[in-house]
Amino acid sequence: MKASSVSRILPDRPILSLADYVDGGGGTALERARNMNAEDVIGEITAAGLRGRGGAGFPTGTKWRSITKSGGRHHYAVCNAAEGEPGSFKDRALIRMNPYQIIEGLLIASETVGAIESFIALKASCQRETQRIADAVAEMDEAGWFRDLGLTIVNGPEEYLLGEEKALLEVIEGNDPLPRWLPPYLHGLYATAPQLGWQAHNAETGHEGVHLSNPTLVNNAETLAQATWILAHGVESFRSVGTDTSPGTVVCTVIGDVKHPDVFETEMGTTLREVIDRCGGPLPGRTVKAVVPGVANAVLPADALDTPLTYEDMKAAGSGLGAAGFIVYDDSACMVEVATTLSRFLYVESCGQCLPCKLGTQHITEALERIRDGIGTEEDVETIGERLQIVADANRCYLPVQEQNLISSVLRFFPEDLVSHLEAESTLPHRSIPTPKIVDMVDGVVTYDERQERKQPDWTYR
Ligand SMILES: Cc1cc2nc3c(=O)[nH]c(=O)nc-3n(C[C@H](O)[C@H](O)[C@H](O)COP(=O)(O)O)c2cc1C
Ligand code: SF4
Repeated sequence: MKASSVSRILPDRPILSLADYVDGGGGTALERARNMNAEDVIGEITAAGLRGRGGAGFPTGTKWRSITKSGGRHHYAVCNAAEGEPGSFKDRALIRMNPYQIIEGLLIASETVGAIESFIALKASCQRETQRIADAVAEMDEAGWFRDLGLTIVNGPEEYLLGEEKALLEVIEGNDPLPRWLPPYLHGLYATAPQLGWQAHNAETGHEGVHLSNPTLVNNAETLAQATWILAHGVESFRSVGTDTSPGTVVCTVIGDVKHPDVFETEMGTTLREVIDRCGGPLPGRTVKAVVPGVANAVLPADALDTPLTYEDMKAAGSGLGAAGFIVYDDSACMVEVATTLSRFLYVESCGQCLPCKLGTQHITEALERIRDGIGTEEDVETIGERLQIVADANRCYLPVQEQNLISSVLRFFPEDLVSHLEAESTLPHRSIPTPKIVDMVDGVVTYDERQERKQPDWTYR
């Protein structure tokens, strides 16, 4: 069976003008929301069971409500379109196909949480998507959609941490993507309230001398597009596909060892096998060995391919849905190579504010490199085990937990790959595994960021 195709938020053809968008029903969600009170809007998002599509799957209604209930003088709203997750291209696909519904979702969210200003943040290298958003914002502004709300497009750096919500707020404020301590709902944009360690910023003009926490809403681009769809079509329609606890659709990216890598929308509950089949299945003569659902969760071995893509089923399988970006590896891939590449990615991208994270990911990566190169020993295996225990100690953000999830799962599911390297006397010839950081995806052709292989742990490039 193949994944059935649905087209709710990812249209078959690009929506190229606001008139085109409005012709297809665009704007009805905002109009409805403007005729409801905030509590009712949040009630619908909650009843729909929408969960964040940025990776953590946090219930969106709960998040919106927490901002409305928070104190602070100002609230802000941010659309996270950083899309730094290896193996994910869905946010950029959504922006290319229909930026209007993301912006409409941001407008709804901003008005619901009482934001005085809103932001859409994406990488500066995503010029095409930035232009698409800028053009759409200009059209919507001209047509009076924004009322008093300001919307700023923020172009950030290449770093993986750009998309981490606490780092994203730093970038919006003009700083480097170094995660702050407290989450955005506690310590938002331009906050002057003390964080742990009293890293307060200068007070906003006109508010000197007053501590402000400015609770800020951060939602992924797809989450906002889904919110627009829910308010336009209603809770029941949203829940008519998917499962009870994971209703609706999800936009998946499938890359790696499949015939036709693709980005497509599918019903929640579609199995991993079905989405791989939809991409033509494995390459001729090959079988699927493992699927990496982004670098935040455990790898899924071949015997987990019938796992439905729902939050609860992926969790029960010991993994997670993440951003629904799936990197498929076939039986020609060595999982020690895969682990080394992905561990190096996390080591390089770790910002170093928390020593166990930077040093732990470094030691694990170096031990994996030795094992991969056929010069590893039992001591290296012990080092990996020990560092996995402490890598997330005193962590400001989730990155080192990702290292724990991913690397421990590779070792757990593929011990034979590890043993084959440990028993080798010299360097083994193995297919090299590139870092699956996608810079473009057109008609099934995926381009990875080649610079990533040359990126150093201090974020410079060789
Ligand atoms: C290291 C790291 C990188 C992340 N990158 C992204 C990203 O590129 N895009 C994104 O939407 N969320 C990313 N997240 C998750 C965000 O911190 C946050 O949970 C998300 O934007 C919330 O939106 P949602 O509730 O709509 O999912 C990342 C998290 C971590 C720990
Ligand atoms: S946990 Fe790691 S990536 Fe996150 S802030 Fe600390 S050092 Fe940086």
